[in-house]
Amino acid sequence: MTTWAITEVGPHDRQAVADASRLTDAVLGRGTFTVEQVLEDLRVGDLLFLTADVGKPPVLVGVATARVLDDDSYRDLIAPMPPGTLPAALPSASGRRIGRLHTSAVTATMRGRGLGSALAAHRTEWLRERCSEAYAISWPHNRQGRSESLLRALGWQPVTILHDYWLQATTTGDQSCPQCGRLCHCPGLLLRLPIPSSWGPTNGKTRQETSR
Ligand SMILES: CC(C)(COP(=O)(O)OP(=O)(O)OC[C@H]1O[C@@H](n2cnc3c(N)ncnc32)[C@H](O)[C@@H]1OP(=O)(O)O)[C@@H](O)C(=O)NCCC(=O)NCCS
Repeated sequence: MTTWAITEVGPHDRQAVADASRLTDAVLGRGTFTVEQVLEDLRVGDLLFLTADVGKPPVLVGVATARVLDDDSYRDLIAPMPPGTLPAALPSASGRRIGRLHTSAVTATMRGRGLGSALAAHRTEWLRERCSEAYAISWPHNRQGRSESLLRALGWQPVTILHDYWLQATTTGDQSCPQCGRLCHCPGLLLRLPIPSSWGPTNGKTRQETSR
């Protein structure tokens, strides 16, 4: 059995974020995030940034993120969706605490051993503690290793297929898709995490985690 260590990266660990950026570029395509933006978001405190290592010396094998969305990042989430898929009202105007399960990447040789599920479980709990609703866009690519079934196993529920979800980001933005290159025509599967009103941000729970 393979064991791994999962770490919550802190706002001062530039090296860990830079290493993670190389891994996500290789697995998910160029432009998934920028180091400066991640460090800034970690300082603000609305981003959970996880890395997973194996062995001694530690080798980075997984990167995963989740965030509580501000108005701009909620706009980014819904912009590629058909109107009406999710409410247009912004978090600041509606009082909603909206979360997003974001980047998920495990190196090819480590897949299928439960690490992706462990990273998703950690982030799902983090979102449940802070948000009144949360979303994920699963990438149903034609290669080995998808996130849909492990997210369903954690309680995430499919909502709809979003055609050409990453087209705009790969046309005018900095992103590229490992499958399509520029001009990504992959669909995205929108999933929603049911969060009972007795859970979520009002229960005052916080996690104690190690960070570096
Ligand atoms: C998606 C990814 C992060 C999963 O990491 P992983 O370490 O292989 O995940 P796990 O070992 O926990 O799960 C592996 C498989 O078992 C499935 N699985 C795990 N737990 C499960 C459960 N309880 N019930 C049903 N299926 C389960 C997973 O969905 C996955 O299935 P598939 O690859 O055959 O479709 C990894 O494969 C990856 O990096 N893929 C390429 C990039 C990518 O698609 N990222 C997600 C973007 S949305």
